[in-house]
Amino acid sequence: MSDIAKLQIGEKTYEFPLVKGTENETAIDIKALRGATDGVITIDPGYKNTGSCQSAITFLDGEQGILRYRGYSIEELAEKADFLEVAYLLIFGELPTKEQLDKFYADILDEAIVDDDIKKIIDAFPKNAHPMGVLSSLTSALTAFNPSSVNVDSEEDMYKAIVKIMGKFPVLVAWTLRKKQGLPLHYGSRKLGYVENILTMMFQKPNDEYDLNPIMINALDKLLILHADHEQNCSTSTVRIVGSSHAGLFASLSAGISALWGPLHGGANQAVLEMLEAIKEDGGDTKKYMGKAKDKEDPFRLMGFGHRVYKNFDPRAKIIKKAADEVLGDLGVEDPILDVAKGLEREALEDQYFVDRKLYPNVDFYSGIIYRAMGIPVEMFTVMFALGRLPGWIAQWREMRLRKEPIGRPRQVYVGENLREFVEIDKR
Ligand code: SDX
Repeated sequence: MSDIAKLQIGEKTYEFPLVKGTENETAIDIKALRGATDGVITIDPGYKNTGSCQSAITFLDGEQGILRYRGYSIEELAEKADFLEVAYLLIFGELPTKEQLDKFYADILDEAIVDDDIKKIIDAFPKNAHPMGVLSSLTSALTAFNPSSVNVDSEEDMYKAIVKIMGKFPVLVAWTLRKKQGLPLHYGSRKLGYVENILTMMFQKPNDEYDLNPIMINALDKLLILHADHEQNCSTSTVRIVGSSHAGLFASLSAGISALWGPLHGGANQAVLEMLEAIKEDGGDTKKYMGKAKDKEDPFRLMGFGHRVYKNFDPRAKIIKKAADEVLGDLGVEDPILDVAKGLEREALEDQYFVDRKLYPNVDFYSGIIYRAMGIPVEMFTVMFALGRLPGWIAQWREMRLRKEPIGRPRQVYVGENLREFVEIDKR
């Protein structure tokens, strides 16, 4: 293949360079397009064919169902690494030595407290507020309590902002849950690991010790790894574009949390459980819901199915499905919802509509079943997704800032009214 693309508009032919990635993905570099063609631009709703950046963090192959973080396969990382190690890998590009990981965690622990006035903000929310809205607000509020983390330009200042949010975010997640449950807001311990602290802060009752269950620790560790990054998805692109205005890391993450909340994105894990519950209540009539999902007049979609990039099995869904069987078995939890999910998957994989559109289970299809078995309320499922995605968002923001990417500002094709005169109100 030549290293240029030719574009003919009218009688003129234009040439643009091709960019090739390390996994042989090819893109047409159209930086010069508008200037060279006297104003012609491209248009691509949902950016289905548009690359926003060059990135060295995560590689996806949607046709093969491949997912790698910094070149390591998701299967190996889920099996052999722990979440904090994967967070370090995503953010700094290499697997850490023991010394590097110990220092990273010590720096995080130094920051794993939040200003007590944050509790006043939490108190102001109604108990039934959706946790994603609370979490997005609290993350943005951190900016007010940590002004030195806003205008960061040096790698050193970025590192300080990164360990701050890696320390404080799990506290905000736990406090968001405890607020809903009317429980006192407390802290973990420097004696515990990163995931152990998350479980302890979420579940420890004020009048009791909390017995850390290795099955819960391993299950959460694996789920967080599987959610840690996914290249330029909706919420990561949001973090990048907000960060490109130099709004600061916490404000960018707050925007990313809001984007993830949507049921077409991270909010799907909550929607999947609600859908499976409805099917179970409906006597397990999966055929009815398959019919609704295929009916163009019906807005219902099979939640947890389909993906913008994966036109094969989402490799994370395969790992989570296997883990669901193991975790429920180990915890001694019988959940009929798992059988409903497996029945629905079997049907969809044999249904021509889904086969033709290459719709497979995605990361959200089975994850909620494990969260529920762990005692996490359904409205907290997307918060758990955000907890896992935090290091990926951080890594993508850091890469964008270190590469000094320009502010994100897409163009448009105007299809509104042409110039017209103002008419006084009594003449309209
Ligand atoms: C995540 O991008 C990422 O990487 C995201 C994520 C990450 O880690 O960050 O992987 C996390 O968001 C996973 C996706 C979670 N969302 C859901 O499970 C919601 C249900 N899925 C869909 O809404 C949909 O599949 C999307 C949003 C995920 C993808 O939509 P696309 O790529 O825009 O595809 P599309 O809407 O153009 O659909 C193509 C066709 C359409 O039918 P036709 O018009 O061709 O006849 O497939 C149909 C759609 O109607 N379709 C579905 C469907 N998903 C697509 N039909 C029924 N049920 C579905 N779930």
